[in-house]
Amino acid sequence: MSEQVTRSDWDQWWRHAVIYQVYPRSFNDANGDGIGDVRGIIERLDYLKSLSLDAIWISPHYPSPQADTGYDVSDYHDVNPDYGTLADFDELIKGAHERGMKVLIDLVPNHSSDQHEWFQAALAAGPESKERDRYMFRYSEDGAPNNWGSIFGGPAWSPVEPLTGKEEDRNWWYLHLFAPEQPDFNWQNPEVHEFFRDYLRFWLDRGIDGFRVDVAHGLVKAEGLPDDAIGPDRWTVTDQEITEEGPAWDQDGVHDIYREWRSVLDEYGRDRVLVAEAWVGDPKRLADYVREDEMSQAFNFEYLEAGWRPGKMREVIDSTMAENARVGAPVTWVLSNHDVVRHPSRFGFEPGYDTDSGIGFDDPQPDLEIGMKRGKAMSLFTFGLPGSAYLYQGEELGLPEVTDLPDEARQDPTWLRTNHKARGRDGCRVPLPWKADPADTGFGENPWLPQPDYWASYAAETQEDDPDSFLNFYRRMIALRGERDLGSGSFEWIEGAGGDDVLVARNGDTVLVINMGEDEAQLSGLGSVLITSGDVEEANGTVSVPANTAVWLG
Ligand code: GLC
Ligand code: CA
Repeated sequence: MSEQVTRSDWDQWWRHAVIYQVYPRSFNDANGDGIGDVRGIIERLDYLKSLSLDAIWISPHYPSPQADTGYDVSDYHDVNPDYGTLADFDELIKGAHERGMKVLIDLVPNHSSDQHEWFQAALAAGPESKERDRYMFRYSEDGAPNNWGSIFGGPAWSPVEPLTGKEEDRNWWYLHLFAPEQPDFNWQNPEVHEFFRDYLRFWLDRGIDGFRVDVAHGLVKAEGLPDDAIGPDRWTVTDQEITEEGPAWDQDGVHDIYREWRSVLDEYGRDRVLVAEAWVGDPKRLADYVREDEMSQAFNFEYLEAGWRPGKMREVIDSTMAENARVGAPVTWVLSNHDVVRHPSRFGFEPGYDTDSGIGFDDPQPDLEIGMKRGKAMSLFTFGLPGSAYLYQGEELGLPEVTDLPDEARQDPTWLRTNHKARGRDGCRVPLPWKADPADTGFGENPWLPQPDYWASYAAETQEDDPDSFLNFYRRMIALRGERDLGSGSFEWIEGAGGDDVLVARNGDTVLVINMGEDEAQLSGLGSVLITSGDVEEANGTVSVPANTAVWLG
């Protein structure tokens, strides 16, 4: 009989962790070829450590034709040669561990690259073969087998015949919820299960501490693949909710997969984590991903999307805390990642303004003066909340979205697949500026995405020595979060302290305040200033917090 595992047996580090997302292509380039690499990450381990991180999560590092910057994996058991070797990766894991940081990698189980040997074998083997059963091939004489659209624009089905040139493939289609270069696996096939169990063990054996699970809500599709309500061109649907709903998403069957993986992870110890990337709008359904015998955490995208709206923020904080408490899992907090417009730029628009399609040079531009203030204030409030907090590389430098990328430089498949309707996500993926030299900020002369002229003014090296820099603010904030144990703290609202637009809450003996209104707020008797995102004044036990500013009191 297998031993009963309960969450309280686990090492709890992840419950209050601060986790930094490394997007390897854009993080740091050790050999100057314009592409970030594993040695580049190794070079910056001390920098990462200086942020008091508990863990880093590395976006896909595998061999990949880069149809979706690495989320099209052609070999799950190796390192992209542009990034380095398995030996380099082992050194990275070791270096991170020596500095007390865990390493999470990105598990991409919904689809492989079309260049993966399994998909190539499937094409070669022909209709109704066991090789094709590992993916979602369907026969339909009357156009695509259903009306589903790809997340990146256009239909989610592509015909097989143009790929093989074989008559027998006429009227055969394969499913790709993302780009055509990303065919969806068939999770009804036991071989797919076995493949990913082996994958988990392969990386766990190398010392990996956990996995961020890509598109965790997509693996299982509704029986019979019925039409959905959105139709094949989701980018023409106005007011489209980013939450993915319908027969392709959040099917109950996905949970069996996570239970299966949980038991593999448990073979390695109780400190290994699974983190769900699941764009599931209903906090109750999202919390199901982090039940006792499933994943450890799920990204709280509701929070990311709450925007500069105090009422909505309160509601999301309350509902996610309540739902997570129900299943005994910690809440996570996240403001930015490689799929969304960087948050200082998001907050530079009117609350509610939709930036889901990205921002181009001819779109309305954010007001960065206000966006930076709000972004910094929101970061401070967020890092004061109990639970686990994520940050996305460059966030600590105060980087805005790059909104003036030349269109011809764009790489995100969304730009092409929507026939240039949606700019896509390249603006948050521009390589980081390390050095203040505009001709070479650390990615040689030809970074894979061009850096704008003003980029060097955000350079880490300049910020390093300035005690008032954004970087040093982030360092103080995360260190203080640790010293005051805010991650494993408690939470209660302090009502009526500053008006409806001022959120005030108590976490242990720290008071968190964010002024989302237009007027200065006066707070009396709640403690003195520990750290602030702006210019607060303090006199006779009263703290004056200007609009667009956050503060921790204690
Ligand atoms: C996830 C990733 C995104 C990727 C998609 C397909 O949403 O975060 O970057 O394009 O999955 O793998
Ligand atoms: Ca390189």
